[in-house]
Amino acid sequence: MKQLGAGIAITGSGSATPAVSLDNHALSKIVDTSDEWIRTRTGIESRHLAKAEESLTDLAVASASAAIAQAGITPEDLDLIILATSTADDLFGSASKIQANLGATRAVAFDLTAACSGFIFGLVTGAQFIRTGAYQNVLLIGADILSRWLDWSDRTTCVLFGDGAGAVVMQASATEDDSLLGFELRSDGKQNDCLKLSYRSGSQELTSNVSVGSGSYRPITMNGREVYRFAVQKVPEAIEKALFRANLNTEEVDWLLLHQANQRILDSVADRLKIPQDKVLSNLASYGNTSAASIPIALDEAVRAGKIKPGHVIAASGFGAGLTWGVAIFKWGR
Ligand code: UT7
Repeated sequence: MKQLGAGIAITGSGSATPAVSLDNHALSKIVDTSDEWIRTRTGIESRHLAKAEESLTDLAVASASAAIAQAGITPEDLDLIILATSTADDLFGSASKIQANLGATRAVAFDLTAACSGFIFGLVTGAQFIRTGAYQNVLLIGADILSRWLDWSDRTTCVLFGDGAGAVVMQASATEDDSLLGFELRSDGKQNDCLKLSYRSGSQELTSNVSVGSGSYRPITMNGREVYRFAVQKVPEAIEKALFRANLNTEEVDWLLLHQANQRILDSVADRLKIPQDKVLSNLASYGNTSAASIPIALDEAVRAGKIKPGHVIAASGFGAGLTWGVAIFKWGR
């Protein structure tokens, strides 16, 4: 009999995006840009934006419910929920609220912050709990509402991002059927200034010699050229490393699933790896860059469209603020 334990199967996916979308033409009435510039420089045509009253928790729960249903389990079966996000509704974390709203009464839940690499970092983190035998059923959600944190007068950032959530269920499987074939996670804090959503401290005097910070977060700032350069150099290297660990070559990859930041980055990484365009998943035209949500939204769309089939090998890579980057090579389904 096969032993449950050290193997991982990724058995369900789901996604949710806000109903409202804003196309480039409408955006160019708000800020000094054009549809032509955004399309040719990024490939983005439109993005979904959460209303003020829409919460990250609601989007996350909607994507999670779909993933749980596809996996054929119930919320009570979950042992662990990881929410990868940089834009939680609550700085103390939103995972517990998601746990309660799902009715995942047995699950422990926590947030994980690694910006646009969050989904990949979360996938590898969740996998460790399964590999040690501690947990059997793990829900991973990547969700972000970056629209809350943009300066809508800054054309160098506001045209790029959108909101959404995506989720997967990871389950224990037989060791010999392990679907997480290889990974590589990296950070380079020396380049931290390239992409930030940072706390700006004011000062509040409590007594004559004690003062504490009292501030707020300032909108996203980005050195786009530096982040671009970093992505096209580091991502192919990391994918090659993870493929080497998985004992696979690029021809054995069925789908290249990159963080949906810029079509030019997708094209360049695919070119460097000699992966043909028809194996590259891309949906950023409709969603823009949804940060931690971009990989699971694209994954879920491809699964539901019947493109990704059980047994297909996916090379997924997230990259962004930190700077961080990560790769997971995994097989879809049982
Ligand atoms: O999720 C995290 C990961 N983030 C990324 O991966 C983003 C990586 N970076 C990029 O995708 C690209 O660098 C951008 C799309 C952000 C920018 O494209 P670029 O080809 O690197 O443009 P650039 O920053 O070099 O700017 C070129 C010109 C500048 O004008 P000048 O100085 O040449 O006169 C900008 O002011 O384009 C101008 N520009 C714009 N023009 C119209 C910048 N943003 C806009 C805009 N509309 N929205």
